Amino acid sequence: MVKIEFILNGRPKVVDAAPDRRVVDLLRQDLGLTGVKEACGAGECGACTILLDGLPRLSCLLLAAQLQGRQVLTIEGLASAQGPHPVQAAFAQAGAVQCGFCTPGMVLSSVALLERQARPSRQEIRQALAGNLCRCTGYHKIVDAVALAAGPGEDQA
Ligand code: FES
Ligand code: FES
Repeated sequence: MVKIEFILNGRPKVVDAAPDRRVVDLLRQDLGLTGVKEACGAGECGACTILLDGLPRLSCLLLAAQLQGRQVLTIEGLASAQGPHPVQAAFAQAGAVQCGFCTPGMVLSSVALLERQARPSRQEIRQALAGNLCRCTGYHKIVDAVALAAGPGEDQA
């Protein structure tokens, strides 16, 4: 076990964990953050996406030791007391959620995209979400939701 210090959803966190514990297990099982989903467990579906220093990362492929000194955001840290994050609101408004299993990862990847590019085209949205699989809603409404969150842009093709 080693002491791992990082920022979790905006607050300092210290955990004792095996350095090779998977981050998805650390978050879900040890810290109760079950908004982080696991499906494939092999880096192929995006359900376990978290933001690490603002970038989407697959928590099923990360090890606890890699969190040392980093900033971690899960879906639990995204909304504020005032309500849902605008991207979450857009997903609801666009009908981009069915079972919801892919949604935390989709939303976090979308938030990261809009942080680095405020007005992405539909093609850029599709590219940014290429690693996040959805088995039920279909991607059209998900792309609609991200475009809605971005607001009117110059290139919505
Ligand atoms: S559970 Fe991590 S990519 Fe599928
Ligand atoms: S909403 Fe069910 S997998 Fe995407």
